[in-house]
Amino acid sequence: MDFTALGNTCVLGMQWGDEGKGKIVDVLTEHFDFVVRYAGGSNAGHTVRIGDRKFALHLVPSGILRPDVYCVIAPGVVVDPALLVQEIDGLRAAGIRVGSNLIVSDRAHVVMPYHKRQDQLSEQALAEERKIGTTARGIGPCYADKMLRSTAIRMGDLLHPDRARGKIREIVALRSRYFAAVYGDSDRLDGDAISDEYLAHADRLRDHIADTTPILHDALRARKRLLFEGAQGSLLDVDHGTYPFVTSSNCGAGGVASGAGVPPRCLNSVVGVMKAYCTRVGGGPFPTELHDETGETIRRRGHEYGTTTGRPRRCGWFDAVAARYCVALGGVTELALMHLDTLGALPEIRVCTAYRHRGRMLEHFTPDLSVLDEVEPVYETHPGWGPESPPVTDYEQLPVSARSYVERLERLMGVPITLISVGADRVATVHRMAGFRMEVN
Ligand code: GDP
Ligand code: IMO
Ligand code: MG
Repeated sequence: MDFTALGNTCVLGMQWGDEGKGKIVDVLTEHFDFVVRYAGGSNAGHTVRIGDRKFALHLVPSGILRPDVYCVIAPGVVVDPALLVQEIDGLRAAGIRVGSNLIVSDRAHVVMPYHKRQDQLSEQALAEERKIGTTARGIGPCYADKMLRSTAIRMGDLLHPDRARGKIREIVALRSRYFAAVYGDSDRLDGDAISDEYLAHADRLRDHIADTTPILHDALRARKRLLFEGAQGSLLDVDHGTYPFVTSSNCGAGGVASGAGVPPRCLNSVVGVMKAYCTRVGGGPFPTELHDETGETIRRRGHEYGTTTGRPRRCGWFDAVAARYCVALGGVTELALMHLDTLGALPEIRVCTAYRHRGRMLEHFTPDLSVLDEVEPVYETHPGWGPESPPVTDYEQLPVSARSYVERLERLMGVPITLISVGADRVATVHRMAGFRMEVN
């Protein structure tokens, strides 16, 4: 990857989340001045591993591990102040600087305790096959209130205790009645206790809260380098993913402009992050899912358990049909391929190149559930490259069959794979330098 040529860049998930975006943002951050989260909230869990230190970031941009980079939580993010305070404390306790380098938009919406309660209650009320399998972090209900407007609270509101207190009291009373009537929930919410707690959190965050839009506009004008850190994955996008088994935001590249308040044309590069196989947490279609010993092996070797909820991730083969759709949706200019080490020990590795649907071949993905529920993946098979390949940083040192797997995925995607991850650690990264020629068949 040619870091100097990237310009303003977005890092995006090409699957259903957990592709390894945190690691890639961390690897790229030293070449940027700002790292900006533009969508989602604490449903995200981005892991960065540096030696024996492991950081799991939920709201704070993964750029925070480099002290001279500004980290921005933009208006499109929904912020749980209780968790944000906890995350900042955790980072500081680990010796990470969190001060004027973290800026939170005053227009970011606040995830309140009743949003988390609603997330649980609405999931519990659904039949098993209709459950979304959310992270229970209150994300959907908070975005719903944002669109509803009259019952929304923004970070800036919490800086005016007198006004905020009355509003919170009113919303809590309404929500309590709603929960009791619709779900028979008898736990009464206490508006004053919630106000006290959340106003105290906001007070602690006061120095970080600002209008982030002019800050980003000034940065663009001064030709600072901006890195936009995507959360979730393109297939979880509320408009373009496998609805309703999605999250509640535009987590794809389309969300950068609206979520961060920057012009769409400010993006020069889009780095798509994808695993060498697929995973998904929660409900919803997953055409290449494995329900056998191989799926178990991938889960075990890849430590495929949710960073946010600890749930086991569903595992399956790489789905080139779905990934190509994400590449097209995001205007991806280069790809980072993750977890190549996890696959190596398997005797053979499969890649889905097309779907068969009612006797016809489909080469284009559709997020339509009625189609996805019926498709049958068409696979090609590749040889594995043996157990425990030694840690390498030079592409030419990778086993031949690993390289031919990478190059095949690259041809299927039609976009160069310029970064290959062969372990969780920051340094377990193979850079393919500019100048190599991608063979397109
Ligand atoms: P994110 O949400 O996209 O940032 O991804 P997560 O952090 O939720 O999940 C990715 C997991 O894979 C984390 O535990 C990472 O430490 C780990 N990881 C990332 N890249 C690699 C890799 O190349 N090999 C292995 N074995 N683990 C990796
Ligand atoms: P990162 O940024 C994986 C999934 C949930 C559920 C659906 C809706 O770490 O890649 P929500 O709580 O958002 O209403 O849940 O979306 N989901 C994720 N899956 N990685 C994530 O984030 C996710 N964020 C949400 O599991 O299926
Ligand atoms: Mg994650």
